[in-house]
Amino acid sequence: MEIIIQPTAKDGSAVAAGIVARLLREKPDAVLGLATGRTPLLLYRELVQMKLDWSRVTTFNLDEYVGPPPAHPASFHCFMWEHLFRHVNVPKENVHIPDGLTKDVPAFCRQYEDAIRPAGGIDLQVLGIGTDGHIGFNEPTSSLASRTRLKTLTAQTRSDNARSFGGDDRVPHHVITMGIGTILEARQILLLAFGHAKAQAIAAAVEGPVTAMNPASALQLHPVVKVVLDEPAAARLSKADYYRWVYDNKPDWQII
Ligand code: PGA
Repeated sequence: MEIIIQPTAKDGSAVAAGIVARLLREKPDAVLGLATGRTPLLLYRELVQMKLDWSRVTTFNLDEYVGPPPAHPASFHCFMWEHLFRHVNVPKENVHIPDGLTKDVPAFCRQYEDAIRPAGGIDLQVLGIGTDGHIGFNEPTSSLASRTRLKTLTAQTRSDNARSFGGDDRVPHHVITMGIGTILEARQILLLAFGHAKAQAIAAAVEGPVTAMNPASALQLHPVVKVVLDEPAAARLSKADYYRWVYDNKPDWQII
């Protein structure tokens, strides 16, 4: 893992945007795995401002709530169009977001998985992290080999996401999420975490054991992971000074 600690979320998002932009310039038909939530908002804003060419890009989103229609303001469909897709020239048919209204969840999940491979596989997967260490909506005890499927949210995650629904009791219990096994097949992973609320989950994911109790810890098994943090999210890392030194002293040939 490469741990990149930046002073603020804005600085971290600029680093992350540079990584995504570089990929899109080098591989105009790249396949991106995308995340929702507060964390990637500044990243998406930066990417929009960069005016990149998205005409050949394909995207797969991590997850979606089961129940709310795509037009619901808290749905991840709505989030993605509002904050990214409507501002860039990505063809609508290249955008994939799990269908939270599907009548046949297992069949839909199989089709979602089956669409990733012919698209070329995911080149870069953007991830946030939950306060409980979830990635996508893979809650603690998710199989580290899991594939796209139905999951049930924990009370903690429903509470963390209550704001967009106007109260804990309005947050759906069920979601469709890519699995941890699905995520680990991406060629490169970019995990973002900002704010002190994420410090414990990040310390466990980066420096703790690989365990289904912190699903993000499974990323330790992936060879190309960049973890971009602001100072508050890095506050509980025991080797933070080492990570800073490594980043500040990268050899010229080791391009970010
Ligand atoms: P957040 O959510 O970006 O809104 O903090 C992250 C997550 O739950 O994965």
